[in-house]
Amino acid sequence: MSKNIARKVYNISVIGAGHVGLVTASCLADLGHKVCCMDNDSAKIDLLQKGEIPIYEPGLKELVSTNTLQGNLFFTNSMKEAVAHGEVIFIAVGTPPKESGEADLSYVENVAREIAQLMDSYKLIVEKSTVPVETGEKVKNTINLYIEKDVPFDVASNPEFLREGSAIHDFMHPDRVVIGVDSERAERVLTEIYGPLNAPIIITDIKSAELIKHASNSFLAMKISFINAVSRICEKVGADVEKVAQGIGLDKRIGQEFLNAGIGFGGSCFPKDLDAFIHIAENLGYDFKLLKEVKRINEEQKRLAVQKIKDVLWIIKDKKIAIWGGAFKPETDDIRGAPVIDIINELLNEGATVSLYDPQAMENLKIIFGEKLHYADDKYQAIEDADCLVIVTEWDEFRNIDFDFLRQRMKLPFIVDGRNIFSLQKLQDKGFIYCGFGRPQITNSKSGVKK
Ligand code: UGA
Repeated sequence: MSKNIARKVYNISVIGAGHVGLVTASCLADLGHKVCCMDNDSAKIDLLQKGEIPIYEPGLKELVSTNTLQGNLFFTNSMKEAVAHGEVIFIAVGTPPKESGEADLSYVENVAREIAQLMDSYKLIVEKSTVPVETGEKVKNTINLYIEKDVPFDVASNPEFLREGSAIHDFMHPDRVVIGVDSERAERVLTEIYGPLNAPIIITDIKSAELIKHASNSFLAMKISFINAVSRICEKVGADVEKVAQGIGLDKRIGQEFLNAGIGFGGSCFPKDLDAFIHIAENLGYDFKLLKEVKRINEEQKRLAVQKIKDVLWIIKDKKIAIWGGAFKPETDDIRGAPVIDIINELLNEGATVSLYDPQAMENLKIIFGEKLHYADDKYQAIEDADCLVIVTEWDEFRNIDFDFLRQRMKLPFIVDGRNIFSLQKLQDKGFIYCGFGRPQITNSKSGVKK
């Protein structure tokens, strides 16, 4: 259990056992609270009750199992049980994008309605899901519309900033905790819950808290697109974006994180939240052109990966392209919004043969691509006789490579490094054709085709 134990123990329910819900529930339980995690997907709840975890997140299985055994965490598919248990109810259900890019809030509305019909004592209902500004008001109105018993309640916004792959660490060691409230009671309860984390707590009104989440994700996406735009200039003049990023990032006002150039961002958050924020602004009468450009630059980076292959191979029809990595980033099996999807589709459209390896995401990739690809058992099997290797995800196991072996097994010693993980000097010495992003390119290998 965490060393930071809650001084006051709350009965908490978390609705939604997705990435954010499950991590939130487990971490709150680890802080000593009595937590019920509810999801209406019975198959998922069955798994969790058996101690199995439906997603890959380092450390989560152990955290769930310890806290279940200690009696701090339990799972249910019954909303009735969840509402009865929790004085504080976190809503952590999905807010998927509609075709227009607008967030679909029907799951949030549904949960708010059910809570209203079931509650028979004070409840603090906390938005944890990423939601558009003014959702808090809508949740409050919905509860007022459907409430059956005359009991008080509060609504609060408490956006989550955890990243997949380091979710538990991020939850337990946040840079800040944002609490949007409009009552002293809600402020006190949430401050007591988060106090043990010893992080700065920002208390705001509900709308500002909601905006902080979208503004924060959009800003990070903007940083990535900014460095990717700079990387295009670097390529034109033969400069090195890694050095440029270091040079600007050491300025504390800019900061070094999220300045890695490459094939761009993916995931279930940045692409979706950018679209949602553009849409929210539009609805409020503001054309957020800056964010539209952030999105456009990101799309371009994926096309650039295929262009780099074509620049060397000319025609890619019937060429074998090996891909290392499919997850939208390392330490996750998540491929939602992953750049690999567009890259593979374009390669297949051009008639290439694709051989793929990812340490965790293979099963998810099979669901999308079925028989269209060759799925390799390991990284070296994937590159056998390949005309090109593309690095899509910077898993640690791709960093320390036996380049001599690679060179022997590939048809052409040619690497497109979508995450700039390799040393330019090393690949030059080993005789590779090497195209990173925003770095000088090595366009001629010493001896070309494998003998
Ligand atoms: C992101 C935010 O970082 C979290 O703070 C937030 O809570 C979360 O969204 C959410 O809204 O739920 P996540 O999507 O898990 O977290 O992953 P990140 O680590 O932020 O990476 C997002 C994408 O950006 C990845 O595809 C990554 O490869 C890419 N990236 C990141 C870059 O291309 N360059 C960088 O310098 C950094």
